[in-house]
Amino acid sequence: RVLRGAPRDLAGRRIVVSAGGTREAIDPVRYIGNRSSGLQGYSLARTAVARGAEVTLVAANVTLPDPAGATVVQAESTAELREAVLAAAADADVVVMAAAVADFRPSTRHESKIKKTDGEPEAIPLTKNPDILAELGELRGDARARGAGHPQVIVGFAAETDDVLANGRAKLARKGCDLLVVNQVGRDLAFGTPDNAATVLAADGDAVEVKRGPKDDVADAVWDLVAARLV
Ligand code: CTP
Ligand code: CA
Repeated sequence: RVLRGAPRDLAGRRIVVSAGGTREAIDPVRYIGNRSSGLQGYSLARTAVARGAEVTLVAANVTLPDPAGATVVQAESTAELREAVLAAAADADVVVMAAAVADFRPSTRHESKIKKTDGEPEAIPLTKNPDILAELGELRGDARARGAGHPQVIVGFAAETDDVLANGRAKLARKGCDLLVVNQVGRDLAFGTPDNAATVLAADGDAVEVKRGPKDDVADAVWDLVAARLV
């Protein structure tokens, strides 16, 4: 659908997309993870290739086929995803953090499988993970302060409940990104479904609503807004 007649407005642009969800090992057989399927991130990668971009897709635990024409890098944990995203972002024009990143990880990884005992199980202490999106914003800020590096467009995602737009605006400001794609969780949208509906908020005040439809619609709305912000 998008492949034919897609605008070539991302031609020659280097774009990094993260997709899927990170997993944090508890022991050799168990992890803390989330329900992200990677569908939205893969849709972003595919549509960006169709619009002419050079795409690096950093995939965390996704079982979808690789999108043709993209370079795919695998990452399991948040530490691996961070390393792969920061390396690819160094010379990228655009970074889109569509991956669901685990906020916490077990403070220590058990070398052997945790066994049941007669008593109650021990609690699993957690440590906060680094915020990759915020870090990308800080790196760009540093580069700007030095007058170095080319401007980069940074896009975040957020799944919100309750006051979706107010939460989204606050998160956009906190993360220092240019665009934030805010999904409303629930109503059988978002996780693992082919459809999505979202509001894309821009740091410059713009807000674009994408009605419920295929995830490619959200992707194309993101690329329209990104293309308008590339210099
Ligand atoms: N993100 C990230 N690194 C993290 C957590 C999140 O890069 N450690 C990115 C996600 O990929 C997403 C954006 O930040 O693009 C927002 O993620 P979200 O989980 O909604 O934000 P948090 O700051 O973790 O806030 P919350 O407490 O709502 O989970
Ligand atoms: Ca989070």
